[in-house]
Amino acid sequence: MQPDGFQKVVFFGKARKDSSIPVAGVNYRSIEPCMKTSIAIYPGSFDPVTNGHLDLIERGEKMFDLVIVAVLNNAEKQPLFSVPERVEMLREVTQKWPGVEVDVFHGLLVDYARKRGAGVILRGIRAISDYEYELQMALMNRKLEPRLETVFMLPGESFSYLSSKLVREIAQLGGPLKDLVPPEVEQRLRAKVL
Ligand code: PNS
Repeated sequence: MQPDGFQKVVFFGKARKDSSIPVAGVNYRSIEPCMKTSIAIYPGSFDPVTNGHLDLIERGEKMFDLVIVAVLNNAEKQPLFSVPERVEMLREVTQKWPGVEVDVFHGLLVDYARKRGAGVILRGIRAISDYEYELQMALMNRKLEPRLETVFMLPGESFSYLSSKLVREIAQLGGPLKDLVPPEVEQRLRAKVL
């Protein structure tokens, strides 16, 4: 028997407070069995991680219990940094957030998300030019796995022009990297392009 103002808890995902009952007791809604989790995957190439990525990770970390930063292991691309190097840098610069994990994936993102029990794909949109590609990817991922939602977040305005590609180019041409990448990453970039 439940006390007044409480209902039986039946849930498969994460229990949430029901805001419609403003009483002292906590009331949990019944939740359908689905991919409702508080695990988000933030996939990308991260070649290398920039301050724009970190801004997004920090925002995601506030919203989700776990943000898995997933580095794509793509044999077709010719990256500047190897996957282990990218993972190492990401781990170094995200270690301050206990709710952030760094991992590697290959193959379809939706398969990886299923394997990790994630319900959300996190992606950043910097400008309208990102939108078309992101929309196409999000809709294709939805077709492949309708239970998975893509959540778009906006990085801080000061990062709206920042990309790994430009960072690599500036590093290769000996330009300043301050404010674009964390110091650990700047060091690695300088060493790489020497
Ligand atoms: O940082 P990027 O390069 O823009 O990230 C692109 C990424 C890794 C998110 C995308 O290429 C991807 O998800 N690749 C995995 C393969 C896949 O699932 N393809 C179908 C996506 S619609």
